[in-house]
This record gives sequence, structure tokens and C-alpha cells, in this order.
Amino acid sequence: MNATLELLNARSSTRSYAVTPLTDEERQAILHAALRAPTAGNMMLYSIIAIEDQALKDRLAVTCDDQPFIARAPCVLVFVADFQKWIDLFGVSSVDAVPGVTHRTVPGVGDLLIACCDALIAAQTAVVAAESLGIGSCYIGDIMEQAETHAELLGLPHHTFPVAMLCLGRPLRRRRPTPHYTKHMVHTNSYTRLSESELHEVSADLAGLFAPRGFKRGIVNYGQAVYERKFATDFMREMNRSVERWIERWQTAE
Ligand SMILES: Cc1cc2nc3c(=O)[nH]c(=O)nc-3n(C[C@H](O)[C@H](O)[C@H](O)COP(=O)(O)O)c2cc1C
Repeated sequence: MNATLELLNARSSTRSYAVTPLTDEERQAILHAALRAPTAGNMMLYSIIAIEDQALKDRLAVTCDDQPFIARAPCVLVFVADFQKWIDLFGVSSVDAVPGVTHRTVPGVGDLLIACCDALIAAQTAVVAAESLGIGSCYIGDIMEQAETHAELLGLPHHTFPVAMLCLGRPLRRRRPTPHYTKHMVHTNSYTRLSESELHEVSADLAGLFAPRGFKRGIVNYGQAVYERKFATDFMREMNRSVERWIERWQTAE
């Protein structure tokens, strides 16, 4: 393995940070790498909000499903899918005068998804750049929850969507790579759905890997465990409600 592959193989999410802040050089290097990431049509359809105000970090630690480590992260970056800047630029560019096109004024869900791709690719590039400097990171998906609160806290206009937050800092302790279940992940030419017997095999494999000591009372297999811990939770209900609000808002003129 070369150094890059070794770095990717050894990465794991970091949730405990040394208090030492990132140096200006480290912060700049991470942001520079993120801003060099591939971007659809070279339109840079995202913005990055660096959270430097401790009171705001404290608030996000609560609004992002009560995760106190967010408040202790030396560097917190929100990656925002951003079409607002283009809509604003179109607004001062007399685009009505452009010949031969069907005019439109608000972005659609396709524009949203492509902007999310941009923002996430930039975020993951920041993760890799940080790892190369010995700085760990953890994504916070819950930034997509609480649409109304997060829009206000971060001053987000209509055609933006905070798709990911990253907490970064020097790991407090040595990390071991988290096991990932990689069977059946790569398909050839077309998608293959698993048969019932394969599904039972996967469930047993997952239980062996992630629940070697068994399940809590009332839970009898890994499907039930994930259903109870993730899919059927209040936080996923809030995530779905909130994302519907973001999408509605995105498609509405201000
Ligand atoms: C989109 C996304 C959202 C995530 N949100 C959270 C989060 O809110 N809190 C957290 O502690 N970890 C979060 N994680 C980290 C995952 O839990 C972690 O990547 C996963 O358990 C695999 O572990 P690893 O990153 O150490 O390989 C998130 C990861 C992704 C990709």
C-alpha cells in the first residue's frame, strides 16, 4: 500500500479531541484542499461556514441531537449546498435577456442534489487532508435536522442546505479503524438484490461483527437492532421532517 492508501485504510471517526487548536497553516491547508475538490460544471455549488463562536458551537451541540463533543471540537465546519450565490448573480446579470432558453427563477431538486454532491465531495476532501496532517474528524449528519433553527442560527437563505457538519481536532487517543461490513457492496453491470437466505447470512455476519455480546432485551437479530436504534427513532423522524422543509424552502422564491 502507498502512503495515501494507508492513510485511508487507517482513518476512523474522531470524537475526542486534544484542546490544542489547529494552527492557521493547518486550517488553511485543509480549506485549500477542500476548495480544490471536483465540482459540477466548476460552479463551486457550496459554501463552508467555519463556526468560531463558542456559544454557537455549544448551541449546535444541543440542536444536533445532543452531541456534547461538538462543543469541544477545536474546529467545526458546516458544508452548505449553495445555489443562492448563483441565483443572486443571475439577479444582477439581466438573465431575462438571454435568448433561446426556457427561463426559470428558482432552483429545483436536481440543482439541490448536484449542490449536495459538491458540498459533500469538498467535505470528504477536507477529511482526507486533515488525516494527512494527523487531525481527526467526525461528520455530523444532524445538521440537516431542525431546519428552522439551523437556518436562523447560520443565517441561511432559501437556496442553501447545510448537508454536513465536520468536527475536527487532534485525536486524544490512538484510534483503531472501525470495522466496516464490505460484502455485497460492489455489483457488476447491474444491481443484484439479495435473496432471503443471503439476507439471513448478512444479518448473522453483522451480528458477529457489531454485536458479538448479543442484543438488548426484546431484540433478536441485527435487522431489529438497526430498526430500533436508527430507522424508527425520533431523530430520524425529525431528520425527515426537517429535510422536507429544506427542500420546500429551496424551491420557493424568497
Ligand atoms: C453522513 C454522516 C453522518 C454522520 N453523523 C454522525 C453524527 O451525527 N454523530 C457521530 O458521532 N457520528 C456521525 N457519523 C460518523 C459515523 O458514525 C461513522 O462514519 C461510522 O460509524 C463509521 O465509522 P468510521 O468513520 O470510524 O469508519 C456520520 C457519518 C456520516 C458519513
